[in-house]
Amino acid sequence: MAAAIRTLRAEGIAYRVLGGGANVLVDDRGLPGAVIVTDQVSRWIRTDRGTFWVECGHSIQMFVQRAKQQGLGGIECLVGVPGSIGGAVAMNAGGRYGEIGALVRRVRVLTPDGDVEEVEPDEHTFSYRSSIFGSDLPVVAAEIALQSVEKKALEERVRRILKEKGAAQPLTEPSAGCAFKNPDPERCSESAGRLLERAGVKGWRVGGAEVSNKHANFVVNRGGARLDDVLALLRRMREAVAERFGVRLEREVKVWSRDGSDEAGAD
Ligand code: EPU
Repeated sequence: MAAAIRTLRAEGIAYRVLGGGANVLVDDRGLPGAVIVTDQVSRWIRTDRGTFWVECGHSIQMFVQRAKQQGLGGIECLVGVPGSIGGAVAMNAGGRYGEIGALVRRVRVLTPDGDVEEVEPDEHTFSYRSSIFGSDLPVVAAEIALQSVEKKALEERVRRILKEKGAAQPLTEPSAGCAFKNPDPERCSESAGRLLERAGVKGWRVGGAEVSNKHANFVVNRGGARLDDVLALLRRMREAVAERFGVRLEREVKVWSRDGSDEAGAD
């Protein structure tokens, strides 16, 4: 990864770093520059402090399963969440049962010069579905602290969370996860999914993109959806909530568009 970044920078070629791609919408017309794919960087190493260094390309679900087999709790809050550890750390992936940021003790990142540096998180490192890490400061590995717990109880908890998720979210259909972040609870006590459902968007469709009938904050690909279909649908969803409730939803899904126009969430 370091060598790739150094070379790309020396050649003046723009690059992005892709983890599992679970939360990214990529332009179907292709992208300029290079994409560094991390799936080969995927070891996990137990430290003598009882923590784990998990490399960025390691699958979240594999980590959840391995931890479960060893009776180690904490990361089961991410059961059912697709993607890789690097992406999970960069996005501070989480849900009702916790966020990965709370388990992270240290993060190894690649600086723009291609050097590996270690960051110890403080209160500014992680926020709701966000962190200081990303394509400009890619995560190479994260040290994650888990706790020994009773194995049977952990297995039961994993089963329960997954069942709950499967009942509420279209896990078996192609989507990029929740499309919008939940609003700031100080300003609005309802979740994005609930607001969207009340605005009547379930089943709305543009081209191959459709708002899930199971969870109104998921856009699923019914086949052949183009980036522009999804963006047009997201715009309509956001407008519906703004008109009905006066709440401006912020996009959670990352957009990698060919011309870069949508990347700052300016749709
Ligand atoms: N709801 C509706 N209609 C819907 C969807 C939800 O009325 O179409 C209601 C639910 O009944 C519930 C409330 O809204 O009372 C909250 O819904 P849910 O429990 O599904 O949680 P969420 O706030 O929509 C968050 C995360 C998910 C995470 C779940 C579970 C965000 C934006 N979403 O969803 O994360 O899986 O909690 O922990 O933070 C993601 O980030 O991509 C993601 C899927």
